[in-house]
Amino acid sequence: MDKKLFCLAAIFDKVDDITKAAKKVAESEYKFFDVHTPYPVHGLSQKMKLKPSTLGYIALILGLSGAALALLLMYYTKTLNYPQNIGGKPTFALPAFIPITFEVTVLLASVGTVLAMLFIYFKFPNNSHPLHGTEYMDKVSLDKFGLIIEAKDPQFDEFKVKEFLGSLNPEVIMPIYYDPEDLNFKAEIFHPKFMLLLGVVIVLTAGISYILLNKWKQIPPRNWMWEQPRLNVQSSSSFFSDGFGMRTPVPGTVSRGNFPYVYSGLPDTMAKNLINPVLMNEYHLKKGKEHYNTFCSPCHGYFGKGDSRLNNQFPNPPSLHSDKLRNWTDGQIYHVITVGQNIMPSYASQLEPIERWQIVNYIRALQRALNAREEDLNE
Ligand code: HEC
Repeated sequence: MDKKLFCLAAIFDKVDDITKAAKKVAESEYKFFDVHTPYPVHGLSQKMKLKPSTLGYIALILGLSGAALALLLMYYTKTLNYPQNIGGKPTFALPAFIPITFEVTVLLASVGTVLAMLFIYFKFPNNSHPLHGTEYMDKVSLDKFGLIIEAKDPQFDEFKVKEFLGSLNPEVIMPIYYDPEDLNFKAEIFHPKFMLLLGVVIVLTAGISYILLNKWKQIPPRNWMWEQPRLNVQSSSSFFSDGFGMRTPVPGTVSRGNFPYVYSGLPDTMAKNLINPVLMNEYHLKKGKEHYNTFCSPCHGYFGKGDSRLNNQFPNPPSLHSDKLRNWTDGQIYHVITVGQNIMPSYASQLEPIERWQIVNYIRALQRALNAREEDLNE
């Protein structure tokens, strides 16, 4: 195949020459020109009148989509899929989401921009160019400055261009030829040798990081907190005289959020002082009814009349409508639920304090219902 002319190139020795030349060629009628320097020359792109790169817009779009993606994922997981109350914060707590949003923004923008540069601007994997491997490239990537005017320029006329380049006082002017066949060359990214290299790199990176982080870093004296001498739950220990690893709390310990019941072991009259903290309202009565029907009604009957449903398998309790019970304070009923009475067991392990008070309220309502006063009828 015949070689074709790609461009005429001029080579300059000094950086000042190339900036002057770039300015002149930018003002000339030639549009398809380029400049090559061994290092970035500041102000050259302005002299060449280059438009600002569009890569910035790609970075902006990628960054914005990174931010949107991170926020969307966190919104979905934290608000829709698995809402969790952390310290009473709203599920979509923006300040806590900023670090991740920032990270994903930067990640997508930086990685995406590099990929966009490779695949869109450099047309990877097609990496052939007529200037590759030429003497001109050798020079301008070492210590010379080059300027080319391409043959595809509509104004291109070999003689005129040569004259124009000559007027710029270059060191040399040279034509550069190329073989159009060469332009079809594409780098084979799926070439077996390349894939093998990639595999080796991946395995090596993963293996080395695994050994460094999980093995080498664990060798003494680098022992970590999880390797400290400590007792696992339920395990024995020779340190304590009773042989148990687990310790019972110090007497008098109060667990968080709980207040110990101070009248256990004392007669119910002592519990008279307890004040019912639960309001007598529809909500608490409804709850009280639920709990009473579940825990009390099997023995005491749905209305507290002592009509057990247990078919004499358990002694029938007395009615909750006796004068004695009517005159009891709320605290005394609460006391019986909490510690039991004679054969009636304690319900402290099944019912939270507030639930016990709700039951007390419900018993009060039952008592009132069977012993209505005149004014109740008027309401
Ligand atoms: C397993 C059956 C059974 C269950 C369930 C039961 N009780 Fe009792 N309850 C009894 C018996 C039996 C007595 C009588 C105990 C005695 O001999 O002093 C009693 C006594 C009482 C007394 C005192 C009555 C009195 O006149 O001295 C109250 C108040 C009481 N129960 C409330 C409740 C409440 C509230 C519940 C539900 C949390 C409940 N009980 C659940 C069997 C039960």
